Amino acid sequence: MKDHLTIVKHPMIQHKLTLMREKTTSTAVFGQLLREISQLLTYEATRDLPLTTRSIETPLLQMDAPCLAGRKLALVSILRAGNGMLEGMRDIIPSARVGFVGLYRDEETLMPVQYYQKLPDHLEDRCVIAVDPMLATGNSSAAAIDLIKKAGAKDIRFLCLLAAPEGVETMKKAHPDVPIITASLDDRLNDVGYILPGLGDAGDRMFGTK
Ligand code: URA
Repeated sequence: MKDHLTIVKHPMIQHKLTLMREKTTSTAVFGQLLREISQLLTYEATRDLPLTTRSIETPLLQMDAPCLAGRKLALVSILRAGNGMLEGMRDIIPSARVGFVGLYRDEETLMPVQYYQKLPDHLEDRCVIAVDPMLATGNSSAAAIDLIKKAGAKDIRFLCLLAAPEGVETMKKAHPDVPIITASLDDRLNDVGYILPGLGDAGDRMFGTK
């Protein structure tokens, strides 16, 4: 992907996102909309994957038909909210290997600390799509990408539902080689790190917690 930031302004995505932002949207509807938007964002995030052809036979003729050119894919969910986008991504790429990275924020240093990591093998040969719905400060996303790079990945893209300018800046400084695909670049963060106007706590809204 050429651009560091791609905002997917497709009308279906924007409409669904508006429904998700509304505070009265139920957990069930929120989850379904997130799955649908994740499918559509995945479609955009894979737009530049190289194609080759293979010879197939239709019921009528032989043809050289397009197919993905061998590059294996991996999806990496940044826990826990990343899991809400995984289902929709796997609807589109069911054969992708899936990994998980867990980070929490140390309340004293405010820096992300890793508590879990399980990644597919041979990441160096894969196109990796890391996912976290909310790119807020960008600190945990940048730390997750550090871990994914340490595990060998070279071709990484980052998928999120909403991004704040602060998070985009953090990612651009830490990982200028990792393109970001999002449905919206919102206005800013509030003083406790929530995206404005945002949609609240994505994990709480998708899992019905508080
Ligand atoms: N994480 C969320 O779930 N929401 C925000 O607004 C920021 C970070």
